Amino acid sequence: MPLDIVVGAQWGDEGKGRMVDLFAAKAKFVSRYSGGDNAGHTVTVGEQIFKLHLVPSGLARPNTIGVLGNGVVINPNILLKEINLLREGGVEVNPERLVISPSAHLITPAHRALDGAQEAMRGSEKIGTTKRGIGPAYMDKTARHGLRVEQMLDEEGFAEAVRKHVISANRLLRNVYRAEALDPQLIAAEYLQYARMLQPYIGDASGMISQALENGENVLAEGAQGTLLDLDHGTYPYVTSSNPTAPGALIGLGVGPKWVNEVIGVAKAFQTRVGEGGFPTELSGDLAVRLRGTGENPWDEFGTTTGRPRRVGWLDLVLLRYAMRINTFTHLAITKLDILTGMPSLKLCIGYQREGVIYEELPLGIYQMDQYRPVYQEMEGWDEDIRSAREWKDLPVQAREYIQTIEKKVGVKVGWISVGPERDQMVQALDAG
Ligand code: GDP
Ligand code: IMO
Ligand code: MG
Repeated sequence: MPLDIVVGAQWGDEGKGRMVDLFAAKAKFVSRYSGGDNAGHTVTVGEQIFKLHLVPSGLARPNTIGVLGNGVVINPNILLKEINLLREGGVEVNPERLVISPSAHLITPAHRALDGAQEAMRGSEKIGTTKRGIGPAYMDKTARHGLRVEQMLDEEGFAEAVRKHVISANRLLRNVYRAEALDPQLIAAEYLQYARMLQPYIGDASGMISQALENGENVLAEGAQGTLLDLDHGTYPYVTSSNPTAPGALIGLGVGPKWVNEVIGVAKAFQTRVGEGGFPTELSGDLAVRLRGTGENPWDEFGTTTGRPRRVGWLDLVLLRYAMRINTFTHLAITKLDILTGMPSLKLCIGYQREGVIYEELPLGIYQMDQYRPVYQEMEGWDEDIRSAREWKDLPVQAREYIQTIEKKVGVKVGWISVGPERDQMVQALDAG
C-alpha cells in the first residue's frame, strides 16, 4: 500500500483529522502537503482532544513519522507551540519524528497583518479568511520573493532576509492599506530564534518519502481545507490560496503519480462552510441550530481554528459528484452520520434547477451554482442511537438507504462511516453489499 491521499470533499472540516488518525495506524509516514495553520484537524483519543493546525494528525500514533511537505506554508511560532502542546499531551515530537521540507515557505507576522488589512479593504466583499497570513504567504511564493525554510540554515542571511521582507511588507501596510507598520528588527530577531530551534527538523522530505515508497512503506497524505476551497477548482474567489485536492499532494510532497493507491474523499453527512461564498443548500432557523449544535459538545459546528459558527445545510450531491470528478476518489468516508439521528426527514440535493430544467451537473462549472435552485430528494430519518454501530448491519435501514443514495448519485463506494468522534466509533463499510 503506497501513497494514500485523504482529501476534504466539501468546504473543509469534514473530519479529515479523525480519518487520518484511523489510517495512520498502518502508515510509516504521515504528511501535510498544502495549506498552513488555517487548518484545524481534531483527533479524539479518549479524554484527550488534539486540535492540530500544522503538525500532521497522524503523529498522534506512535508508529509514524510526520512530514511537512514543500507545499505547506509554515508559521514557525505556531509550529513550535503545537510541538509543545503535543509533548504536554504525551506525544513525543523530535527531529526523528518530524521532518520539514527545505522548500516549504514561511509565514510571518507581516503576512498575517497583510491578510487582515486585505480583508478589511475588501469590506462587504471579504473572503472571510482565517487571517493566518495564508494568502499573502502564497502570494510571496508565486511572486518568487517568499521566505523558504532552507534559508533558516544560514542564520545571518535569514535574519537579513526576514528584516528586508518586513520592510517591504511595511510599504504595503502603510501606503496601500493605511495599517500600522511592524518592527523589522524585532521580527528578524524572533525568527532567528525560531530558526535555531527548527534547524534540526529540516530534511529532504521529498527524498525521504520517495525512498519510503520505493521500499514499499505506507505513506499517508493528509489534505487540509477541502475540494471546494481549492484555488483552481473551488468556489473562486471564496477559496484558499493552495491546492488541497488530490493532485496537490503530488506537487506538495514532491512525488510522482505512479505511487498513488487510495484517494479517500472525506465528506460530512451534511454540508458546512465557514467564511463567505455561495452555499445553495444552506439552512437557517431551527434546522440550522439542530445541525450546528449550540457549542456545548466538542464536535458542534464551530471553527476549530477561529471559533466562528459554521454555516450548515443539506448534503449537496451535485457538489460531491464534482469533487469526485476532480479528485477521482477510490472511496468516500462519511462522517458525523450520528448528528442526523432523530431528524424525522432528511434532504439530499440531487440536482440544480433553472427555468424548469434540472441539471445533474452545472453546465459551466460550480461558479454558477448561485444562479440555480437545489432539487431535493427527501429521505426518511431514523431514531435509533447509531453511535455504537460498528458494522453495516448495525445501522438502521433508513441510514443505510441514505448512504446508498450517496453512493449511487456520486458513483463511488462509501468505505467508512463515522458515527462519533472517538477512534472506535466507525463503521467499516468496505464489505457492505
Ligand atoms: P477536519 O478539519 O476535516 O479535520 O475536521 P474538524 O476537526 O475541523 O471538524 C470535525 C469535527 O467533528 C471535530 O470536532 C471532530 O472531532 C468531529 N467529528 C468527526 N467525526 C465525527 C463523527 O462521526 N461524529 C461526531 N459527532 N463528531 C465527529
Ligand atoms: P480544515 O483543514 C474550513 C476557509 C476560510 C475562508 C477561506 C480562505 O480544518 O478543513 P484562508 O485563511 O485559507 O485564506 O481562508 O477558506 N478555510 C477553511 N474552512 N476548514 C479549513 O481547514 C479551512 N481553511 C481555510 O474560512 O473561507
Ligand atoms: Mg477543520
